[in-house]
Amino acid sequence: PVIYLITPTHSRSEQKADLVRLSHTLLHVPNIHWVIVEDTAVKTRLVTNFLRTCGLNYTHLNVATPPEVKMKSTDPNWLKPRGVLQRNAGLEWIRSTSKRKKLEPAVVYFADDDNTYSLQIFEEMRWTKKVSVWPVGLVGALRYESPIVVKGQVTGWLTYWRPQRPFAMDMAGFAVNLRLILSHPSAQFSITAPRGYQESSLLSGLGISLIDLEPKAENCTKVLVWHTRTEKTRLKNEEKMRQQFGKGTDLDIEV
Ligand code: UGA
Ligand code: MN
Repeated sequence: PVIYLITPTHSRSEQKADLVRLSHTLLHVPNIHWVIVEDTAVKTRLVTNFLRTCGLNYTHLNVATPPEVKMKSTDPNWLKPRGVLQRNAGLEWIRSTSKRKKLEPAVVYFADDDNTYSLQIFEEMRWTKKVSVWPVGLVGALRYESPIVVKGQVTGWLTYWRPQRPFAMDMAGFAVNLRLILSHPSAQFSITAPRGYQESSLLSGLGISLIDLEPKAENCTKVLVWHTRTEKTRLKNEEKMRQQFGKGTDLDIEV
């Protein structure tokens, strides 16, 4: 099966560094198609040029988050939904592409651009029948969050924050078989879902219940993906340098 990896990405100082690092992981993964969706009204030169030379099979899309729901860089990171319309655009692209050709075995995974992925997690998800699940490291202010597995079946969620959510796991903790996505054409993420309910909005739309979940990573005993976050770089000396020396860094040099 091919893995369709949907990655929302937004412009920021660290964007290229994060994308380079992620692409270097993906270059080690066989049979993967990267659906990268920019949170912009027009595709940026930075991402366009980066993708051209990245060496991966990819599709480049864009859709801007409307201003009334868009995060400001000063907002706390949990205030607004991130990457919602972008993931939906990725899903729509996969659905419409699949209509135009013979159905191939495939799995869909949603990958933030700043997480850390082991190569093993891609081989675990590749054989997903409906929805597979596994632990995610460094998330929810815990060492890890995980599905609770009893006798090979998911019975609940090991998480501090709202364990009563229908699917109380991070975006990095599950993958979906393409057939299930195609058989539920209106299943998608919701821009109005309350904080922490994105994953539940998609999975509920796919008509899934706990019994359907396939635990991976040795019955959810191994952490193979980490919800790392890139530290915001302070650029306070850019302006100071321009003021004091009359000349700053070369803005024609892409970072
Ligand atoms: C966590 C989860 O890992 C995300 O999958 C989930 O979307 C998010 O919470 C949420 O609650 O909405 P976190 O690390 O806190 O993610 O958020 P980011 O990494 O900043 O954003 C998630 C993805 O959306 C990234 O790939 C990022 O580039 C993208 N994004 C972020 C946008 O496309 N637009 C934005 O304005 C912000
Ligand atoms: Mn992140």
